[in-house]
Amino acid sequence: MLKYLKKYWVCCILAPVCMLGEIGMDLLQPDIMKSIVDDGVVKGNVDLIVTLGVKMILLVLFGGVCGILSGVFANFATRHFGNDVRKAVFTRIMNLSFEQTDAISTGSLITRLSNDVSQVEMMVMMSMRMLVRSGVMFLGGIFMLYRISPKFALITIVCLPFVMVGVWFFLRKATPMFSIVQKKLDQVNHVMQEDVAGARVVKAYVREGYEMDRFDAANQELVGVNLKVQTLLAFMGPYMNIIMNLAVIALLYVGALEYQRLGGEEGGMSIGSIMQALTYVTMILHSVTFLANMFQMFTRANASMIRLREVLDSPEIITDGENAAEADKSEKKGSIRFENVSFRYPGFSDRPVLNNISLTIEPGETFAILGTTGSGKSTLVNLISRFYDASEGNVYVDGVNVKDFGLTELRNRVSVVLQKAELYSRSIKENITWGRPDASFEEVEQAARAAQAEDFIKRQSDGYETFVTEGGHSLSGGQKQRISIARALLKHSEILILDDSTSALDLRTEAAFHEALRRDYQGITKIIIAQRIASVRGADRIMVLDHGNISAIGTHEELLASCDLYQEIYRSQLKSDEKGGVRS
Ligand SMILES: Nc1ncnc2c1ncn2[C@@H]1O[C@H](COP(=O)(O)OP(=O)(O)OP(=O)(O)O)[C@@H](O)[C@H]1O
Ligand SMILES: [Mg+2]
Repeated sequence: MLKYLKKYWVCCILAPVCMLGEIGMDLLQPDIMKSIVDDGVVKGNVDLIVTLGVKMILLVLFGGVCGILSGVFANFATRHFGNDVRKAVFTRIMNLSFEQTDAISTGSLITRLSNDVSQVEMMVMMSMRMLVRSGVMFLGGIFMLYRISPKFALITIVCLPFVMVGVWFFLRKATPMFSIVQKKLDQVNHVMQEDVAGARVVKAYVREGYEMDRFDAANQELVGVNLKVQTLLAFMGPYMNIIMNLAVIALLYVGALEYQRLGGEEGGMSIGSIMQALTYVTMILHSVTFLANMFQMFTRANASMIRLREVLDSPEIITDGENAAEADKSEKKGSIRFENVSFRYPGFSDRPVLNNISLTIEPGETFAILGTTGSGKSTLVNLISRFYDASEGNVYVDGVNVKDFGLTELRNRVSVVLQKAELYSRSIKENITWGRPDASFEEVEQAARAAQAEDFIKRQSDGYETFVTEGGHSLSGGQKQRISIARALLKHSEILILDDSTSALDLRTEAAFHEALRRDYQGITKIIIAQRIASVRGADRIMVLDHGNISAIGTHEELLASCDLYQEIYRSQLKSDEKGGVRS
């Protein structure tokens, strides 16, 4: 974390220095107070009282200014530090592989980005101000006490082991609880995130009550551990108070004895000295309480820091190839080759999703993949863009192993329309230009036209400038799919992958889209995943995937003649297909 703080080192030094000014004034005040009592009040010297009073006011003002400046510097450093850490964590999250985000839940990532960063931020702030304040006050207080009477200093020092044992006892119990608190917070955020994002499904299934209970349960658990840890820590304050008051009693007792013995003598104990000593003892013990609280905060921040480092230090699993610059220069053809590729999802190693797939897709070919749900179609194409890396075997794009490319270049060569159309809260036009922000409006229109999106976009109130609400909720499923397709078409990559991207389109629109694709995007290699035969029959070749194995590859006619599974799917769809009456 120091790495992120280094940039603000000037403020990190100035904040404690100004704080020293403030504490210095606090430490001097009881000294002046003593003079006011002993030399002014007791001796009836009004002039002295006024002079010292003015001096005290000036010191207070100076201390106040120092305090304000310290606050300003500490705030500046802390807020910027927090911002930098948040940015670093966010950047890292953006670069996590699918495998890693699958492992850490979204809820937990949100907690880490928000609450955990705040905990660490608070710790930095406290270190710069309160740690310095309490530390100096503690040491300075003991020194001042020693100046009044070594016995007073001794009383305070004797109290210290009791204080330390108390702090050690409470914090030892509380420390492990802090990680649990953060985990419970993860859970609350997890439920919250899932339910807010999936509010429509919750409503559709009238599951509000159930989800509220689920949220309540997570919340109760959080409250439970929070209560436990706070109840434990609640003992710490009174325990410190008891010790503090015992110290005050001891000090008054010793002070009174000293006053009886040496009172009135030059350099002996005076009432002002006892008053002064009492202020210092209170100061010292307050600072000790504060330090104890800070330890508690530090242990909590430490738990957060570990969680942040888990994200920040997580290894980059999917990275640019070693000789990426060279690989990136390879000729863009649009060919794809799978060589003995097998795949298991990390964490689900017992279930192979793809088995020994070998396959070549030629440049400019329209290659369709058909298969039952869960047969591994999406998984197969995800390996091309390296959303995951193959467990065994290799995938090649344009004759180069995908692992050798720079990720940016690879993902520029491959344009994917994911199975779930994801749109962002911005205008339709910005959603389409997402992959190529510099595209001209004519290009945007052309892509939208090919994606069969133009008509409905023009019918929107503001046309291309119409704002899409979060998650694309203001659009229908088919409209979202078409905008996603337009977004991919605009990228004009050599390879276009459509993962079940026309499932929500009616057959007529789908046929028109395939026609536009054939006409306007000829040179592009197209991989079309679909469930409907109508969507794939026009393809150059169709691959039938069955439980991660290639069942057959051929044209529609060839497969109809030879592939049982294809015939089965064909027959099951024949009726509805004929009713639709449209062939792609
Ligand atoms: N992130 C994941 N972690 C673990 N298993 C997964 C993950 N994604 C998919 N699977 C599993 O891998 C198998 C293949 O999934 P995949 O999404 O490739 O199927 P699909 O053929 O695209 O199906 P559909 O037609 O329904 O989209 C399924 O059994 C699924 O349960
Ligand atoms: Mg799929």
